[in-house]
Amino acid sequence: MVKAVLWEEDSLKLIDQTLLPTREVWLTLQSAEAAFEAIKSLRVRGAPAIGITAAYGLYLGMRNSKVEDVARFFEVLDQQVDYLASARPTAVNLSWALREIRSKLRTLPNPTVPQLLAVLLEEAVALHEDDRRRCEAMADHGQSLIPQNARILTVCNTGALATGGIGTAFGVIYRAHTLGKQIEVFPTETRPVLQGARLTVYELTRAGIPTTLICDNMAAALMQKKGADLVIAGADRITADGSVANKIGTYSLAVLARHHGIPFYVAAPFSTIDAGLPGGSDIPIENRPADEIRRVFNQTLITLPDVPCWNPAFDVTPPELVDGIITERGILRPPYREQISHFITENNPIKSEELR
Ligand code: MRU
Repeated sequence: MVKAVLWEEDSLKLIDQTLLPTREVWLTLQSAEAAFEAIKSLRVRGAPAIGITAAYGLYLGMRNSKVEDVARFFEVLDQQVDYLASARPTAVNLSWALREIRSKLRTLPNPTVPQLLAVLLEEAVALHEDDRRRCEAMADHGQSLIPQNARILTVCNTGALATGGIGTAFGVIYRAHTLGKQIEVFPTETRPVLQGARLTVYELTRAGIPTTLICDNMAAALMQKKGADLVIAGADRITADGSVANKIGTYSLAVLARHHGIPFYVAAPFSTIDAGLPGGSDIPIENRPADEIRRVFNQTLITLPDVPCWNPAFDVTPPELVDGIITERGILRPPYREQISHFITENNPIKSEELR
């Protein structure tokens, strides 16, 4: 399976997702600034993958800072955490990963700077491995929702390119295929950045999963013709009430699915749940450059060069349209508020035996 992020030879390696599927180019990153740029320009994307990249970026930033004093180390650490977290605003995994690592470092008794650096790298590697295991657990839990011969509609890219493992929604699909369920997948192309057409098709095809690509505006017709049995999407942030921010177009699929009586599921690890935010309207939504819309994949101009565009990268699906949230601990069912607050408390950590 393809990987999005690697830590190798003391440097961060990323496959440049802006060039896929036509070119497979690996980048070697040696600084927090390079990690920031890769996240912002979507060379690496997908909620868990940007959190993992930022964790390694934090290590690179602190290593390059050459600070020798522990108090100063923590000052620079705070600056680097804020800087990296600002690369993209919607996926909470980014700031979550950085905060988790900073909290671990703050609990060390009388550390030296070399120890802090060593633990910082260990924690980034552990976070990466932890996400891999969360993906496996989601894939297992999601199987009760995927019938034999299911025709599955999905959006954006939620696979190995978006995570540290086999993916969130994609992981559930992939596991169904490896269990021999004879599924067929309909990825939407996912305008304007085409994560579905470029990345999900690439991953589905490599996995040998029967795939039929559709344009975003074909989903209603597919459902009307009974060409889809269920929709499964990932998430960039889920609030306390179960509202789901995900790639622009996800909300339309949820509305369409409800109209056609098709279940709409979300797969996301608890690192995507932001229980501190009460509802969907509180989620910061990233607005991206107009040229992503004006041009096909930032190249051929398809409209007038100066036409104003509205380009939100994400939308929010209200909890009443979500039939289940597949997590690494099981499937949450509506109403979500109580289940989320029960699982998310510090007294209820995810135990290692829950994860493979
Ligand atoms: O803008 P992107 O490509 O980072 O958006 C990614 C998505 O919306 C995914 O569906 C989401 O991050 C979940 S992936 C595990």
